[in-house]
Amino acid sequence: MQIDLSGRVVLVTGAARGIGRTIAETFAREGAHVVAMDLDADALAGMEQDSHAALALPCDITDPAQVREAVAAIEERFGRLDVLINNAGINAEGPLESFDPELWDRLFAVNVRGVLNTCQAVIPLMKRQRAGRIINAASFAAVIPSVDAAAYGASKAAVVQMTRVLASELGPWGITVNAYAPGMIPTAMNGFAALGEEAAAAKLDQLSVRRWGVPEDVAKLCLFLASDLSDYVTGALLDVSGGKFATQDPGAAWRAL
Ligand code: NAI
Repeated sequence: MQIDLSGRVVLVTGAARGIGRTIAETFAREGAHVVAMDLDADALAGMEQDSHAALALPCDITDPAQVREAVAAIEERFGRLDVLINNAGINAEGPLESFDPELWDRLFAVNVRGVLNTCQAVIPLMKRQRAGRIINAASFAAVIPSVDAAAYGASKAAVVQMTRVLASELGPWGITVNAYAPGMIPTAMNGFAALGEEAAAAKLDQLSVRRWGVPEDVAKLCLFLASDLSDYVTGALLDVSGGKFATQDPGAAWRAL
């Protein structure tokens, strides 16, 4: 059995860099018509010429009007939308006691309201098709948050609950909705790449598969979730974290080697 996504229309938000960029490139290689959406128009530039996207759409997902316009452009161009991957997200850290409430609102505007905006824009189209896949980037932080990261953890926990509720609301329409929880993938969003040797080793000790994640790990899971192979998977939070804290001390198995 093979994953066949040729001809599927796949919208990826936050596609200009990081994990989203790799998801877009991976789906394009699998023959999908990729629509790359991002706030950063400069970084999107060139994706169409490089065949990493059939269509590149600058769009701020916090603005429902912009999102509706973008989805209308997709329908006009392709006549359908098979898969929405809500990858765009931002991070902000600081202790709750002094956390800037405006930063809190901004983070929720992107990570939570942004997901609501894109879902609301695509659901009518997917319902008419009686088919569709919605795939949401949550985080391991939705399960176990980090100190100084309450806003991020709470926003990703919200994404998980939205995923579960949407899965039920859209089940009768042939639409599946799932979320995934990456663990630690060094990107511009985080400081993993800049950690010293000792700090990096302590982080890697949390993992059963003792290496940093790479964007391809997420892209491969998205391929599965977008494909016919996952027909019976919905409302799930899939862990793609290398087994982060699968046990209290996964590093023990590595130290015993
Ligand atoms: P990144 O910061 O490298 O890329 C995020 C992309 O989203 C950027 O291109 C940015 O321009 C875009 N974006 C931000 N706000 C936007 C908006 N309002 N409208 C449209 N696009 C917007 O981040 P990374 O690391 O690639 O993360 C991607 C997703 O994976 C995020 O949702 C993140 O929370 C999640 N994630 C990442 C982990 C990691 O270890 N890198 C771990 C867990 C979850």
